[in-house]
Amino acid sequence: MDTILILDFGGQTTQLIGRRIRDLGVYSEIAPGDASLDDVLHEGVKGIILSGSPHSSWNDESPKPDPAVLTCGLPVLGICYGFHQLTLAAGGEVKALPHREYGRSAVRHQGSNRLFDGIPESFLSWMSHGDSVSSLGLDFEQIAYSENGVPAAAAHLHKPFWGVQYHPEASHCEYGDKLLENFACEISKARKEWSLEQYIEEEAKSLRQKADGKDVLLLISGGVDSTVAAALLLRSLPHEKIWLMYVDTGMMRKGESEEVAKSLKALGAKNLLLIDARDRFLIPLAGIEDPEKKRQIIGDAFIRVQREEIAKHLPQGYMLAQGTLYTDLIESGQGVGNQAHVIKSHHNVGTPLVQAKRAAGELIEPLEKLYKDEVRRLGKILAVSPDIVHRHPFPGPGLGIRILSDVTKEKLDILREADAIYISELKKRGLYHQIWQAFAVLLPVRSVGVTGDAREYGNVLGLRAVVSRDGMTADVFDFPTKDLLEISAKITNNVKHIGRVVYDVSSKPPATIEWE
Ligand code: XMP
Repeated sequence: MDTILILDFGGQTTQLIGRRIRDLGVYSEIAPGDASLDDVLHEGVKGIILSGSPHSSWNDESPKPDPAVLTCGLPVLGICYGFHQLTLAAGGEVKALPHREYGRSAVRHQGSNRLFDGIPESFLSWMSHGDSVSSLGLDFEQIAYSENGVPAAAAHLHKPFWGVQYHPEASHCEYGDKLLENFACEISKARKEWSLEQYIEEEAKSLRQKADGKDVLLLISGGVDSTVAAALLLRSLPHEKIWLMYVDTGMMRKGESEEVAKSLKALGAKNLLLIDARDRFLIPLAGIEDPEKKRQIIGDAFIRVQREEIAKHLPQGYMLAQGTLYTDLIESGQGVGNQAHVIKSHHNVGTPLVQAKRAAGELIEPLEKLYKDEVRRLGKILAVSPDIVHRHPFPGPGLGIRILSDVTKEKLDILREADAIYISELKKRGLYHQIWQAFAVLLPVRSVGVTGDAREYGNVLGLRAVVSRDGMTADVFDFPTKDLLEISAKITNNVKHIGRVVYDVSSKPPATIEWE
């Protein structure tokens, strides 16, 4: 398939470049910025984009593209740091600015270069840089100017190389999509071949090949990724070969286990392993208050329960499937090179079972090329219920890390009830889809209240609602006060033991989204 290859130097917006290109209908791939071109080039690649970076080009230690990028004959677009790399490779100069430039900046182009076809001669770009080109490389000419005097774009006179100082991938950048389209489709001649319908067909073939008649196990969390992965497996492989395992840890939300079972059955699942392991989680958790210990106990219990159930139901040499996304691989450092900044390690990539299966060549990851919103769209095409497709993220340890003290069945029941009221009210009021993640936490604080004539001590419940793009940073949801007060009253009126409700007004950073 025609592809635009993005070489990633660790820039914060590299993922966005990939997204924008795919939104044009052109397939994009991200590879380590300093990868050997031999390792990442294939015949589908029609053009190469060099990304931005937190590094400075003038530092010798900073990652550099393989020199073959400039001799392979493909069109190259350097964005910010990528532009600086092109400049240095052609004998130009890059310098640190006295102040970092961040935000909108007016740009004017000459009107004659095809990179700017269809773009008005003056527009507002989006800048985010601390370095800039102070002297262009040999045979480069400046083709766009910015109001602050730094070269906004340059083109090589004879070779298919372009550099832009601003970030066309940023949503605030005017005509950024057009510039990327000019590069991908007009200059690189990549065809628009990327569609989810086609992905389903190709993935079905590839899954049949990889599974090769073996049994396939998928662990289901109830979230969108594992459910869509299940739908894709069920669409591609014989149903009797697919085993879907869902573990009820006792820390799930109200009605969750039943809903998960219902949605998987609706997708045609035959071998549904619904494991009631509530005691196996709750007993070892008794009396444990430390959040990391809780996580450890829950993680260990998962591993034990899974191992036992697998031994009961699956033959040796079965394939393990999981709903890892493209971003999970990139963020965990698997998709990017030595020099890239590893943002976080992701649980999908690292459990012992997954590692063993990966090493044995028995791991399949049917969503590994997709971004989250593509997975949601895929879910819709594959008839996954809209409730699951648009569900807020839910952590693996579940309500266990939303009870800020030792976990007991009584506390879980209280939290389940309160959380269910909160979430159903958000849905009724049309607020749920404006929020990235919302949940309740049970605080280890008792406070006094009055009921009738009596003074009573009740628990305090915290409500959290955040907006975010990816969970890495988050802002507090600007909750309409009327809704907040009504929801709070509904919770205290209906959940015995909750005497007081508070709303968490902390953003991330400095707070995290979860309380533990
Ligand atoms: P934090 O609290 O780190 O959360 O700001 C970011 C996102 O990660 C989820 N989260 C977890 N997910 N296991 C998980 O599977 C965990 O231990 C865990 N801790 C946090 C959190 O719900 C949010 O979506």
